[in-house]
Amino acid sequence: MGVTELRTPLELAHGPAWPNRLSLAPMTNKQSNPDGTLSDDEITWLVARAEGGFGMTMTAAAYVDVAGKAWEGQLGVDDDAQLPGLARMADGIRAAGSVSSVQIHHGGAVADPVASGRPLVSAVDIPEQGVRGLTTDEVKRVVEAFADGAARVERAGFDGVELHGAHGYLLTQFLALTNDRSDGYGGDAEGRARIVLEILDAVRSRTSSQFQVGVRLSAERFNLSTPEMVALAGRLLTDDRVDYLDMSLWDVRKHREDAPGQELLATFASLPRGRTRLGVTGKLGSSAELSAALADGADFAVVGRPAIADAQFAAKALADPGYAGPEFPVTKDHLRAQCVGEAFVEYFATGWPHLVA
Ligand SMILES: Cc1cc2nc3c(=O)[nH]c(=O)nc-3n(C[C@H](O)[C@H](O)[C@H](O)COP(=O)(O)O)c2cc1C
Repeated sequence: MGVTELRTPLELAHGPAWPNRLSLAPMTNKQSNPDGTLSDDEITWLVARAEGGFGMTMTAAAYVDVAGKAWEGQLGVDDDAQLPGLARMADGIRAAGSVSSVQIHHGGAVADPVASGRPLVSAVDIPEQGVRGLTTDEVKRVVEAFADGAARVERAGFDGVELHGAHGYLLTQFLALTNDRSDGYGGDAEGRARIVLEILDAVRSRTSSQFQVGVRLSAERFNLSTPEMVALAGRLLTDDRVDYLDMSLWDVRKHREDAPGQELLATFASLPRGRTRLGVTGKLGSSAELSAALADGADFAVVGRPAIADAQFAAKALADPGYAGPEFPVTKDHLRAQCVGEAFVEYFATGWPHLVA
């Protein structure tokens, strides 16, 4: 299989075309300053991936409200003081010829109250974890916080945002079957998805027609119903709300837990699509795997861990159909040589010990 498809630019409904079909996955690296401003290390790490060939370069999850801050060193987009660093990062990514996006996030029940200095909130009360369900007014303020964050990201010069609806954070907590709110933001599938749809609409209304809006969803776990997530994906792929949907699958070739025999990638790639583009993430570590994901129906491929280990991952994958990707485990010195700063080296080595020697 060749790499021509990977190199084909991707037109989206809004904003600049991506020069190729490879997107850097959003990756928390804990390199931001305590006030959520960017550090030089974080800018260096990300700009190196843009220079390394990704058509689209995405930041780590960035909190839109300090109550949603989920770890020390998280990037923030809740304050104008963060604008100069964000602008420097956006400029660096653009100068490298890549399109840029900030992943906007709220941790909800799994935020870190020590890092945030705020009590934990979620869709519903979880007394045993000290978590309080948001009031209806507070839900509306969360919607506004996401829209404010997106507007700030555009002012900084980024080409777009991705709404983090995956991995068990606040928006997943709303989508989950455990969300039995009775104020229209819970209960049935429509109610549980409402906050996500309202945020996407609010972001669109607060940003320009050139701004790209994407959303990331999980397909399984976190008390989600896979058939519901498939239905929501199908809706988002046809209702023109977003420029792209990124399905975070962890292994695109894995089979559905609720429907053995059905591959996750095939499930989402077979959905009817309007102008909204479909990306998939998870274990796409070689040119062959990337090309196959596109051949099997994805519009773009999203790459995480391999791009930590090799800043030039995208350029190599785009150039060589035989590129097999970096070999793990890698050493800490290897990571340092790939523009991974000390805080990220430690976080990666701690969280993924089998990948770091
Ligand atoms: C160090 C690290 C940090 C991550 N941080 C985020 C994050 O901030 N937001 C998010 O949506 N996913 C995050 N992820 C998940 C990745 O975006 C990606 O979905 C996952 O690593 C699977 O892709 P891969 O097999 O190419 O690594 C993170 C993954 C890693 C390894």
